[in-house]
Amino acid sequence: RTVPPVVFHLIPWFGSAAAYGGDPVEFFKSCREKYGNVFTFILLGKRVTVALGPQGNDFVFGGKHTVIAAEDVYQHLTTPVFGKDVVYDVPNEVLMEQKKFVKVSLTVEKFREYVGMIEEEMTEFMKGDPAFLIWQMKDINEWGTFDAYKTLAEMTILTAARTLLGREVRESLDKGFADLYSDLDHGMTPLHWMFSDLPLPSYRKRDAAHQKISGFYQSILQKRKRQESEYEDDVMGSLMKQQYRDGRALQDHEIAHILIALLMAGQHTSSSSTSWALLHLADRPDVADALYQEQVEHFGTPDGGLRDMTYEEMRKLPILDAVIRETLRMHTPIHSIMRQVRSDITVPPTLGAPSEDNVYVVPKGHIVLASPALSQMDPKIWKDADKWDPSRWYDADGFAAQAHRQYDEDGKVDFIFSKGTGSPYLPFGAGRHRCIGEQFATLQIGVIISTFVRKIEMRLDQPFPKPDYASMMVIPLRPCQILYRRRKF
Ligand code: HEM
Repeated sequence: RTVPPVVFHLIPWFGSAAAYGGDPVEFFKSCREKYGNVFTFILLGKRVTVALGPQGNDFVFGGKHTVIAAEDVYQHLTTPVFGKDVVYDVPNEVLMEQKKFVKVSLTVEKFREYVGMIEEEMTEFMKGDPAFLIWQMKDINEWGTFDAYKTLAEMTILTAARTLLGREVRESLDKGFADLYSDLDHGMTPLHWMFSDLPLPSYRKRDAAHQKISGFYQSILQKRKRQESEYEDDVMGSLMKQQYRDGRALQDHEIAHILIALLMAGQHTSSSSTSWALLHLADRPDVADALYQEQVEHFGTPDGGLRDMTYEEMRKLPILDAVIRETLRMHTPIHSIMRQVRSDITVPPTLGAPSEDNVYVVPKGHIVLASPALSQMDPKIWKDADKWDPSRWYDADGFAAQAHRQYDEDGKVDFIFSKGTGSPYLPFGAGRHRCIGEQFATLQIGVIISTFVRKIEMRLDQPFPKPDYASMMVIPLRPCQILYRRRKF
């Protein structure tokens, strides 16, 4: 029984904070070369044991909740932002119930309506945004530019608010409200993860923004209960009708806090994914053309136009599906998935061991960390791993490409992007903390990409942006300008 090797560092408490914070993916790769798939690094006094590869994913995502717990690592970061009594502020069994409440409220009927809502929000946004002036001038064949991340961040919040949070919230999304969201957002950084409370403006603003947003949602709930407001059958409405297993209805503050958590969980994950996808499409006009042709094939009208997309049809577009999968493979927004170790845990020897007759044990008090970003870019698993190539995900029949099929004993195809905890492809996680927003996110990303491809042609006239790891998510480093012109039918 040996503890995993500790990454060499010069300053005791600080440890490898600079290398990890600067570029976690490169840091993990270089540590893997020196120490193998399991190693521990020091991060500002914390001991973090990294478990890499598909087996590392399995170790962390498939670990027993009584032994490794997410809430112990995230609670002090998320509770001030989301609020009390939800997500990591409650025992895991309660989180499981809360996830189920949200899941049942995201129905296929709602998704059908969301397609048109998202498209409408985007068109309205483009009509009002100075960056899209050239798109608005129908007869002008000139190139304009827009900032990929800034545009997609704004579109994501508008479309998520309209769909998930309902009309009352969307209609109040003026500048003041956007600023409040931004204050909440700035309360979710690595600094806030390290120190839950500091006498700094960002902490004060975070707390004030939480109070105001939570109060606003609760006032809408009150109005709905007094039947003073007409409302659609949205997520808030659905949560109002649900009950915990013990028969207790959700309290207003719980509903408000779940809604804040949803918006936060979906905002940067979706906006970074759509930004990266558009940047790649601008860099590869051949793929953008193939996507456009796919739209024409499925939605083309006799007069040369395109009719509205439907949810059912969108799910059957192999090139769009492949563009989303490939973007999430290369630019998975969350690079580190962490859990706190509650009692000593033995590392399976196939993941890593000091010798044939010895095992590694991760002691209680460590954090364990999985990074599917690495297995998703591992050249031993993926052909041309660092090349963005959506065609790896489909063949002429619209199925996943040969290179990424595995065969079980009966010779049946077993796709390696299956949902098990030991898959190398896990952009939405796995196990009990798996994402419940996957279908919504895929729909939102799909409509956003398709709507852009329908409206504009894109090019990149700058080097492809590098990843920016300064926030908790992997977003494109500025500048990330896209050149565009109005598409001619
Ligand atoms: C959990 C990724 C969009 C809500 C997760 C996890 C990942 C993830 C990796 C697992 C975290 C862990 O194991 O600690 C993504 C990506 C998205 C996305 C890549 C978009 C491209 C969304 C959206 C929503 C959402 C739109 C809400 C509508 C959640 C929730 C959890 C979760 C509630 C559960 C957290 C837990 O059980 O601990 N997501 N997500 N996500 N996500 Fe997402």
